[in-house]
Amino acid sequence: MARRRRGGAAKKATGRADWSSWPAYEAAASGLRNYWYPVYWSAEVGRKPVGVTVCGEKIMLQRDQHGVAHALHDRCLHRGVPLSMGVEEFPGTVTCPYHAWTYDLSTGELVAVITDGPDSPICGKVAVETYPVDEAVGLVWVFIGDREPHPLHEQLPEELQNPPPYAVGGRVEDRDGDWRLFAENGFDEGHAKYLHRTSYWRIFKTMPTWNIVHIERHGRWIYRIEDERHWEAEFPGLGTWSNARPWKIKPRQHQGKMLGNTGGAKRNDPYILSQDLPGFASLSLPGVLRIAYPQFIHYEFYVPIEKGRTKYVGVMVQFKTGLAKAVFYAKYLGGIRWLFHGNFSAQDGWMVEATDAPPERLYRPDISLLEWRRLVEEGNPFDDDYVMPEDALTSSKASDAPGSADGDGA
Ligand code: FES
Ligand SMILES: [Fe+2]
Repeated sequence: MARRRRGGAAKKATGRADWSSWPAYEAAASGLRNYWYPVYWSAEVGRKPVGVTVCGEKIMLQRDQHGVAHALHDRCLHRGVPLSMGVEEFPGTVTCPYHAWTYDLSTGELVAVITDGPDSPICGKVAVETYPVDEAVGLVWVFIGDREPHPLHEQLPEELQNPPPYAVGGRVEDRDGDWRLFAENGFDEGHAKYLHRTSYWRIFKTMPTWNIVHIERHGRWIYRIEDERHWEAEFPGLGTWSNARPWKIKPRQHQGKMLGNTGGAKRNDPYILSQDLPGFASLSLPGVLRIAYPQFIHYEFYVPIEKGRTKYVGVMVQFKTGLAKAVFYAKYLGGIRWLFHGNFSAQDGWMVEATDAPPERLYRPDISLLEWRRLVEEGNPFDDDYVMPEDALTSSKASDAPGSADGDGA
């Protein structure tokens, strides 16, 4: 009988069996509460109700006659039919398709039961739960939580809080996979240069073979900063590996803190440059990735639908107006949308779906994952009683990384 060969006993994997070192993280399979989550493009929410699930909660969204978006628990109190299947019979209300219980969109109160006449005694006695709703960056956001919401404005990436006019393009897509794995994948240092080397988005660009990074904390964001970049490497006894190809362009400058992950650009957008971001890739709660390129910023919001399912909200923002904005839209719709938000990020989706962790045995570049999990453990920065831990401002060093000589990074 064939026997599986394995490493010597001394080399057996001794990684983590679970995520119990990060209890808040481990408990957050269906999402973190008390945050705003983007769920639909603003243009997709109209007078006809639409449904969405966020952090396991079923929600119905609908605009009233003034264009204001409202969110109600997507479940009729009578027999549980989703209100997102209903219609607007009277302005500012939704009527359940079954027995026509009719709810006020602002308060959730039952204001009429069409099949029980105008004197229906149950009216005014019951109400469905409502959710805070707001709009920003061309998206409708709902607040999932158990307290008064903080203003959505405060939760937006700082550069979008008071920005010059900008254009937005993007993709909103439900995907299989845990939102935590999507967040880890987005900020993961290790995979991009290998997994994405074949993507069409990177077809003419060389990716490094390996690099060394550390993580820096600035405010509520963690930034990935590159310390060393290696274009090719000689692996003892195995040979040389490089992603360089004759048709691929290798950026000449050393990147360091520059924008973009494949090297500095000659032309940087002045507004993006003025943000003085410490690194091109950054991550914040509740799962917001920001990648600053020289001419645009790409965001990914990993919105937990329910355990094992994630709404991927990929948004590209370019701070342009007029003709430049029209050109951006043409380019975006003509290619970037597919190349970047489609083909490129589909590779991520493919891997996240295939990831089967924990158990896990982390390696040096996974310092990015450890710092992210630490951020989650710290708690919600928008809670009133939040205190930023003193040591949160300490930057990790490459030597803190798992598998490095000086520490195991946990
Ligand atoms: S289930 Fe909604 S009205 Fe009966
Ligand atoms: Fe990726």
